[in-house]
Amino acid sequence: DWTMAAFRDQAIERIRAQVGDGRVICGLSGGVDSAVAAVLIHEAIGEQLTCVFVDHGLLRQGEAEQVVDLFRDHYNIPLVHAEEADRFLDALEGVGDPEAKRKIIGGLFIDVFDAEAKKIGGADFLAQGTLYPDVIESVSAIGGPSVTIKSHHNVGGLPERMKMKLVEPLRELFKDEVRDLGRELGLPDAFVGRHPFPGPGLAIRCPGGVTRDKLAILREADAIYLDEIRKAGLYDVIWQAFAVLLPVQTVGVMGDQRTYDFVLALRAVTSTDGMTADFYHFDMDFLGRAATRIINEVRGVNRVVYDVTSKPPGTIEWE
Ligand code: XMP
Repeated sequence: DWTMAAFRDQAIERIRAQVGDGRVICGLSGGVDSAVAAVLIHEAIGEQLTCVFVDHGLLRQGEAEQVVDLFRDHYNIPLVHAEEADRFLDALEGVGDPEAKRKIIGGLFIDVFDAEAKKIGGADFLAQGTLYPDVIESVSAIGGPSVTIKSHHNVGGLPERMKMKLVEPLRELFKDEVRDLGRELGLPDAFVGRHPFPGPGLAIRCPGGVTRDKLAILREADAIYLDEIRKAGLYDVIWQAFAVLLPVQTVGVMGDQRTYDFVLALRAVTSTDGMTADFYHFDMDFLGRAATRIINEVRGVNRVVYDVTSKPPGTIEWE
């Protein structure tokens, strides 16, 4: 696509002009945006770039391996895999407020990037895959002035103490354009087509406190839900689908035993840019199948509900 080819060339020139001979650290989240940013920046400045993938313990099943494989095996881009789960999960212990969680996570990301920058002898820039909608939504509410709905860690949530300057080559793009650019840069289709995943990860899909036990339940249930979506051929029709583990237990019956386990909410939406979204109209057989599998296979969940809220008035994530 010629427009993306032109964008790519311009973006490369701009990155070179901004960075000069400085060193850049790029935070990889496992999502499409940061991967595209990393590959683009690597084309622009090569060895001056170091990518840091922070495993904050809030990733989905298999996600860390997928990202590390992609970057180590398919690209010759130096990648630091920072395993920081304990640091993040300890800091989140007992924290229930959504904005407090986002601030803690954003702050720890910066601490990790700073520490990794020191290890390579210092970095002048931090690169992120911030998109246009991230910028807009962190600055103002839809239809209203200057109200923060959520501090995206990669925009409003960065602490002021951060010394590195930001490189955000995708700041003018919408998601579909980033996907085009990703294809232009030769990223595998399966990777480019991945559903968006938020920087704060599963922390914002565990309303109330985040614990290791809850994360394990959520990961397992989410993987089954996505597996059913793929089997039904719906993955590419849906903008984003995920499970949310509610801080509510209900009574159920399994065999002849009483159970008292968590409620899991399933979410799926269609959208073109994430700024507005419609809940996805699954057929009931699909929902029944997914619910039955989750309740049978995941210990700790005995009830499944489906979220039929669009955006607005809901947001896509629950926090
Ligand atoms: P909401 O929940 O605000 O989400 O309707 C819109 C889109 O943004 C994603 N999202 C984030 N992405 N950092 C990110 O990189 C974040 O802090 C963040 N919060 C929400 C969300 O998954 C959806 O695609």
